[in-house]
Amino acid sequence: MATEFELNGKSVNLDVDPAMPLLWAIRDIAGLTGTKYGCGKALCGACTVHLDGSPIRSCAVPVSAAAGKRITTIEGLSENGDHPVQKAWRDLNVPQCGYCQSGQIMTAVALLERNPNPSDAEIDTAMSGNICRCGTYTRIRSAIHKAAEEQS
Ligand code: FES
Ligand code: FES
Repeated sequence: MATEFELNGKSVNLDVDPAMPLLWAIRDIAGLTGTKYGCGKALCGACTVHLDGSPIRSCAVPVSAAAGKRITTIEGLSENGDHPVQKAWRDLNVPQCGYCQSGQIMTAVALLERNPNPSDAEIDTAMSGNICRCGTYTRIRSAIHKAAEEQS
């Protein structure tokens, strides 16, 4: 059964099992591999994408949940990687291995959309579900403040 939804601004119609994790459809069917598989159990945040603007764990959400909705992945955030959050990430050299970072960025973008000037504590709370094995948390926090300044 096909599921139709908007993926990074384009309508897609994926003929897959509606119970398939959305992450599988994004990576293996749509070919967008910027979103990563970490734990597969909604525990690490590596697979974070936006559903109608809100961050979700795409490993734990079935394709059917996207029907008629808007899904945004890291590839859809900006044309040339120039979203203020992406720029701040680059300016402050946030990534180490990089594996967790698309999920971190998607969560950070959603945070700034609902709270344009978050405190350290608000950043830590919002980002607490995104695990970084390389321990880049301090740079992530600084980059979110930098992006907040640039967006204000
Ligand atoms: S891969 Fe989805 S939360 Fe870890
Ligand atoms: S940069 Fe390596 S896991 Fe986060």
